[in-house]
Amino acid sequence: MCEKQESGDFRGQPRLPHFAAPRRYDLFLNPDLSSCEFSGSVAITVDVISPTRFLVLNSADLSIDATSVSLEGKAISPCKTELVEDDEILVLEFDSQLPLGESVLRIRFTGTLNDQMRGFYRSKYEYKGNVENMAVTQFESVDARRCFPCWDEPGFKAQFKITLEVPSQLVALSNMPISEEKINGDDGVLKTISFEESPLMSTYLVAIVIGHFDYIQGITSDGIQVRVYTQVGMTEQGRFALDVALKSLNLYKDYFAVPYPLPKLDMVAIPDFAAGAMENYGLVTYRESELLYDEKLSSASNKQNVAITVAHELAHQWFGNLVTMEWWTHLWLNEGFASWMSYLAVDAIFPEWKIWTQFLDETASGMKLDALSESHPIEVEIKHASEVDAIFDSISYDKGASVIRMLQSYLGADCFQKALASYIKKYAYGNATTDDLWAVLEEESGEPVKDLMNSWTKQQGYPVIFINMDSNKLHLYQEQFLSDGSSGSGTWIVPLTLCCSSYDISKKFILKSKSDELDVDDLILHKEGSQETFWMKLNTDQTGFYRVKYDDELALGLKYAIQADKLSLMDKIGIIDDASALSVACKVTLSSLLSLLDAYSTQSHYTVLSCVISVSLKIANLVDEAIPDLSDDIKLFLIKLLKSPAEKLGWDVKEGESHLDTMLRAEILMALVRLGNKSTVDEGIRRFAIFLNDRNSSVLLPDTRKAAYVAVMQHCTVSDKSGYESLLKIYRETDQSQEKVRVIGSLASCPDKGIVLDALNFLLTDEVRNQDADYGLNVSIQGRETAWEWLKENWEYISKTWPSSSLISSFVSSVVSPFASYEKSEEIEKFFASRMKPSFERALKQSLEKVKINAHWIEGVRNDKSLAEVVSHLVQKA
Ligand code: BES
Ligand code: ZN
Repeated sequence: MCEKQESGDFRGQPRLPHFAAPRRYDLFLNPDLSSCEFSGSVAITVDVISPTRFLVLNSADLSIDATSVSLEGKAISPCKTELVEDDEILVLEFDSQLPLGESVLRIRFTGTLNDQMRGFYRSKYEYKGNVENMAVTQFESVDARRCFPCWDEPGFKAQFKITLEVPSQLVALSNMPISEEKINGDDGVLKTISFEESPLMSTYLVAIVIGHFDYIQGITSDGIQVRVYTQVGMTEQGRFALDVALKSLNLYKDYFAVPYPLPKLDMVAIPDFAAGAMENYGLVTYRESELLYDEKLSSASNKQNVAITVAHELAHQWFGNLVTMEWWTHLWLNEGFASWMSYLAVDAIFPEWKIWTQFLDETASGMKLDALSESHPIEVEIKHASEVDAIFDSISYDKGASVIRMLQSYLGADCFQKALASYIKKYAYGNATTDDLWAVLEEESGEPVKDLMNSWTKQQGYPVIFINMDSNKLHLYQEQFLSDGSSGSGTWIVPLTLCCSSYDISKKFILKSKSDELDVDDLILHKEGSQETFWMKLNTDQTGFYRVKYDDELALGLKYAIQADKLSLMDKIGIIDDASALSVACKVTLSSLLSLLDAYSTQSHYTVLSCVISVSLKIANLVDEAIPDLSDDIKLFLIKLLKSPAEKLGWDVKEGESHLDTMLRAEILMALVRLGNKSTVDEGIRRFAIFLNDRNSSVLLPDTRKAAYVAVMQHCTVSDKSGYESLLKIYRETDQSQEKVRVIGSLASCPDKGIVLDALNFLLTDEVRNQDADYGLNVSIQGRETAWEWLKENWEYISKTWPSSSLISSFVSSVVSPFASYEKSEEIEKFFASRMKPSFERALKQSLEKVKINAHWIEGVRNDKSLAEVVSHLVQKA
C-alpha cells in the first residue's frame, strides 16, 4: 500500500494520516517583540508506525527553511518539502522508505507575531507610559501550526520541552515551571529560559506568554502553586480569581478523585484576547474583563462571570486537558462538561448565588439555537480544519451542558460522579470519544445510557411534549420543536418527570415513542374536591432538554400555581420560557403569553424576573413593527409589571443586600430604560450628570451604570451630541476593561440614526481593541438599517480585521438577526452569496433563519384576534 502513496493523497483530507505520530517536541522560539518577527526550531521525535516515504504534518503562515529539514539518527533529508496552503499541511517526501520506529525530525522556521489574536500574536499594553508589545499564544482550535510545524490534532498527544530566548527584563511563562534561566552574552540583553518537560498533551493546549507582569500567588491544600499575573500594578484585581481558583482546584481533585496533574497553575490577564478565556494546560489565559475583579469598579455580574470563567477553565484541566476529545466532533465533551462543572463548583463556593437557577439561561440559549433548522447535532462531523472554530457555539456549550445535567439527574448525582471519576482515571493522558464516556457511565449505572444519549447528541433539535389530560390519563405526544412553527421529524428518548399539586407527589417516566399514555390515577387522587388548587408541572426543575405544551386546563392550573407561589424558581422560569418560545413559533398566542406574564406580577426573585425581563424585551422589540396601534399599551403593561419590584430596589444599594438583588437592580432598571419608562430614564440621566462630575460619587455604582448610560443615549441626537461625547470621555479616561465594555455596549442603543453611525464607526478606530468591537453592535431597533448599510460598506475591512470565527460571526449575527421580513432576508443572502467563508457561514444561515422566524411571528401576532381586548384588560387592571 505504501508504494502507492503520492503527495497528492494528502490534500483535501479532514485529518492527517496516522502512519507516523509525534512523541516529543523540543521547541525553541526566539521572538523579537519590537519587529514582531520570530524564529524557531523544533526537534520532533517521530514514531513511524507503518511503512511510508512521507511525513505529513501541519504548518500555516510560517516560512520553513527547507534546507534545515532532516530526519536525524538516520541522517536523511526529504527530496521534496511541500507546503499545501489550503490544507495547512507540510508534506515531506523522502526518496526511500523511512525506518520504522523513532527518529528525530528537525525543522527551522520563521514567522510573524500577528495582530489576529490567534497562533503566536502580539498584544499591546501600556508600561511606564509607553506602549509595548507582549507575545502571546492562542492555539485552540487549529492554530498551533501558525507557531511551529506540528501534528496539530487533539489525538496526537506528545510531550513538550520548550525553550525561549527573550529580553532579560521580561517575564516568560509556559505550561510547565522554569527549569533553567540564564542570561546570554556579556551585554545581558537577552536570556534563555528553559521549561520542564510536560506530560503527554495535545498541541492546542501549548502556551507561551512573554511581557511585563506582576503576580500574586496562593497554594492549594495539596501544595500546588497558583499565580495570577496581571499588568504591572493591577495584581489586587486578581485576588478574587485566585481565591476561586484555589477553591475550585480543591473541589475538582475531590470530585474526580485525581490530583491536579501539573506542578503549577498560572492564570494571566491578556489585554487583547479573542475568546473569553483559554484553558492552556497549566497556563490559563483570560481577557482582562473575565479575570479581574475590583470591588469598586466591577459589577456583581462581572464578579459572577469571573467566577464561572475561572471554574470553567480549571474544570478543563481534567476534562479536556488530562482527558482530551479524540477529534473535534467530540468538542462538546470538553465544552459541555466544563460549562456544567463550572456551575457545580460555583454553586459549592457561592451557594447564595443560586447559580443552578441561573444555569437555565444556558439551557434557554441552547434551546433557542437548537430550534433552528440551521442548528447541528452535538456530535458534528468536521470535514476541514476551517470548520472547527464555528462549532464553539451554544450547541456544544449550552445544549451540551444541559443534556449532561439531564443525564445526571436521571442517573443520580453519586452514580454520575463515580462514573466520571473512573472515566478520568481510565483515559488520563489519553483521548476519548463520546461513546467511551457512555460506556463507562453504562457500566457504573447499569442503565442504557448510550441509547438514551445518542438520541440527544447525534440528532439535532429537541422535542416539545404536548400533554392532554382526560379523566385520569395523560396523553403524551412528542414533536420536534422548531421556532418557525413547522415540526421536524425527530423522535427522542425523553426522561420525563412530573409533579402534581406538590413536590412530594411525583413520577418519572421514559417516553420512547412518538406518543404514549400515562396512568396518573395515583397522583391525582387529590384533585377531587380541590379543583381550584390542582396543578401539574412536567419537567420538574427543568432538568430535561425539552419544552412542554399543556392543554388549556393544565395551563390554567399552572397559572394558578404561579399566582399562589406554589412552584420552585426553576419551574417558574421554565413555564414562561416555554410559553415565550411557543409564542415565537405561533403555537401560543401573544395574548395568552401576556396573560401568563401577568401572573408573574408578584414575583421578586432575581432569576425569575430576569427571565420575565428577557421575555418582555423580546415582545417590546417586535410590537412596534407588528401592531403599532397596540405597542404603547403593551409596553405600558410590561412597565407596570416591572415597576413595583424596581421601586422596591431603587437605584442605591441597601446595606447588606444580597448578590442577587444587586444583579436584579441592574437588569430591571436597564429593562425599564429600554421600555422607555420616562421616570427611570430621567433618573438615569440625573445620576449620570452627578457621576460625570465626580467619578467617585456613590450615586452611580458599577451595577447601575450601564442602565444610566443607555438612558443618556435615549435623548441623544446629532444636533445635541453631549451625552454621546460624555460617554466617550468616560471611555477614554478609564483603563478598566469592564468599564470600557459598558460604555461601548451603550453607545449604539441610541434611537438617532446619525449617532448610531458615529457609534459604529468608532468601533473601527484605534481606540477600540479588536476584541471589544462586537460589544458595540447592540444597536437600537431604529438603527438596524443603518447598521446593515454600515456593515456592507465596511465588509471588506471588517472581514479582514476580524478573521476569527467567533468575532466575525458576532458582527454578522448582531447586524442581521434583528430584521423581521422575508424581503430583507433575501437581500442579505444576496449580498453574502459571493462573500461566504466557513468562519461565519453557520452564523449567517442561522441569522437569516431568525429573520424569517421574526417575520412569521409578526404575521401570527397580527392574526391574534383577542389581543386588543386582552391588552386593554391588562393595562386597566390595578
Ligand atoms: N476552550 C475555550 C476557549 C476557546 C473558544 C478556544 C473558542 C477556541 C475557540 C474556553 O475553555 C472557553 O470555553 N471559554 C469561554 C468562557 C467560558 C466561561 C464559557 C469563552 O471564551 O467564552
Ligand atoms: Zn471551555
